[in-house]
Amino acid sequence: MKKDLLKMDDLSKEEILDILNLADQLKYEQKHGIEHPHLKGKSLGMIFEKSSTRTRVSFETGMYQLGGNSLFLTDRDLQIGRGEPIEDTARVLSRFIQGIMIRTFSQDEVEKLAKYASIPIINGLTDEEHPCQVLADLMTIRENKNILEGLKVAFIGDGHNMANSLMIGCLKVGMNFAIASPKNYTASEKYLSRAKEIAEKEGVQFTITTSPSEAAKNADVVITDVWASMGREDESAERLKAFEGFQVNKELMEVADKSAMVLHCLPAHRGEEISAEVLEEHANSIFDESENRLHAQKAVLVKLMK
Ligand code: CP
Ligand code: NVA
Repeated sequence: MKKDLLKMDDLSKEEILDILNLADQLKYEQKHGIEHPHLKGKSLGMIFEKSSTRTRVSFETGMYQLGGNSLFLTDRDLQIGRGEPIEDTARVLSRFIQGIMIRTFSQDEVEKLAKYASIPIINGLTDEEHPCQVLADLMTIRENKNILEGLKVAFIGDGHNMANSLMIGCLKVGMNFAIASPKNYTASEKYLSRAKEIAEKEGVQFTITTSPSEAAKNADVVITDVWASMGREDESAERLKAFEGFQVNKELMEVADKSAMVLHCLPAHRGEEISAEVLEEHANSIFDESENRLHAQKAVLVKLMK
């Protein structure tokens, strides 16, 4: 049976760790000029209904390095943009290519694509989830700290796609997780209750708060994301007000562990969710995190498409 990556919860703890191990190996091989054409002759369709720098370039070069190729498909060019149903697009593309990565708004659309396609579907970001980013984040944390289990991750900001996938991913691999969001911008009950369930099963701590410093206290990793995600730009002004005090800056980092890492999926808005100073101080890990999109996604592609 085909396997999809539609959301972080599609992966078990073992599957996450398996992907991270393969990602480390592929990164090593790439750095040492060892070719790994696991997907020779295979094609990945990449449907984009939102902008992207990292996701597009990492999937495209990743497929090339795996010996396959990729097709950059936007809703402006596809018949989807003129109303062809996703059910039909799924069945047509399944006859030509061996996998699809999709970046769009609605999670339901991605679930529907997966239901009708006979090939693996990978979520490259929806309003609910960003699982590929979280795999890269976990890879980066493990590279830096050597372990995942028992560390504390603090997410400061919007209870949107990044927060959802991070909560599920981090808790599953045995990390403690604290999320601080302003009232009215917390993650949905669906994600919070699933996160509580996982935390209980793993025996780790899960904290939901409106206080950034409570979340960041003694954290080993502090993560943030933009306040107005793609598709919500018209709410920027009101969000700027609502998220006052939620910036990851020097003052907040003082309560975190002394050797805490800072991660940001990027693009970043300096002076809003993160200060320029903190971003630059942690640029090494933040740009490693970007690079690791390539390696982590290559591992996902191999696991799903080989
Ligand atoms: N972090 C991330 O997904 O970046 P892009 O929007 O540039 O793909
Ligand atoms: N939350 C952000 C992530 C961008 C990679 C967005 O959806 O725009």
